[in-house]
Amino acid sequence: MGSFWVSWRISFLSLLFAISMAAQPRKPVDVPFQKNYVPTWAADHIKYFNGGNEVQLYLDKFTGTGFQSRGSYLFGHFGMQMKLVPGDSAGTVTAFYLSSQNSEHDEIDFEFLGNRTGQPYILQTNVFTGGKGDREQRIYLWFDPTLQYHWYSILWNMHQIVFFVDEVPIRVFKNSKDLGVRFPFNQPMKIYSSLWNADDWATRGGIEKTNWANAPFVASYRTFHVDGCEASVEAKFCATQGRRWWDQKDFQDLDGLQYRRLAWVRQKYTIYNYCSDRSRFPAVPPECSRDRDV
Ligand SMILES: *[C@@H]1O[C@H](CO)[C@@H](O)[C@H](O)[C@H]1NC(C)=O
Repeated sequence: MGSFWVSWRISFLSLLFAISMAAQPRKPVDVPFQKNYVPTWAADHIKYFNGGNEVQLYLDKFTGTGFQSRGSYLFGHFGMQMKLVPGDSAGTVTAFYLSSQNSEHDEIDFEFLGNRTGQPYILQTNVFTGGKGDREQRIYLWFDPTLQYHWYSILWNMHQIVFFVDEVPIRVFKNSKDLGVRFPFNQPMKIYSSLWNADDWATRGGIEKTNWANAPFVASYRTFHVDGCEASVEAKFCATQGRRWWDQKDFQDLDGLQYRRLAWVRQKYTIYNYCSDRSRFPAVPPECSRDRDV
């Protein structure tokens, strides 16, 4: 009888799990760096391990470094696992973002602002559409991002842009075209990452400077899977949306569990949200009416 209950409970729990995970983006597949990425600058500050399954970016007094995807993408799900600069990382910024390469550009940003040893990182996110940004949100993380790898990803379709930290949506930018807000839909984006010195603004607004005695600063990466519509290869296909997994109904909005998790991040970890900054924006930016948390 004991085993009946155990197996019943296991199948019940896995059913619950399956239901609640229905709208989770696909898990990444491990592929080496070289398959999807190339260095952007200071290639000698990138080190490769296990045939490129893991890479490290180095920042020293002379330079930081960065890499970018080979392809450009229109919609999809993009992410990587990152372990941020440990110890005294004040003044450093590690970024992971999507960006188009034109003047009225679209951009979707994760920026990790370092801190003195034992002080919390800030994760700043931003969305640029048609060259217009100024949509910063800032949170603390609920874990130390320097101890282990965590998975940071961006889901982008015609309906929404979702920022995920592991399985938790920390931000949603809904398509608010009907409110007169541009939404990225026709400019392919590349995926970028970089590590650089930004001690003029990053930590406590620039008060805490980079301590070069601790250089080099090292950020680690793995899982270079890319799951998007490659515009250079399938431009026509990418233009006719609605067929890929990320276009399906499950991914057009967050589900109940995801909204609850987002609300939890809002309540416990949010430091700044441009949507509630009346001194900067006396008139509430239109898309903020969709920046809801329940
Ligand atoms: C760094 O630590 C200070 C003190 O705890 C905190 O005010 C600040 O938000 C932290 N993060 C950054 C990036 O400045």
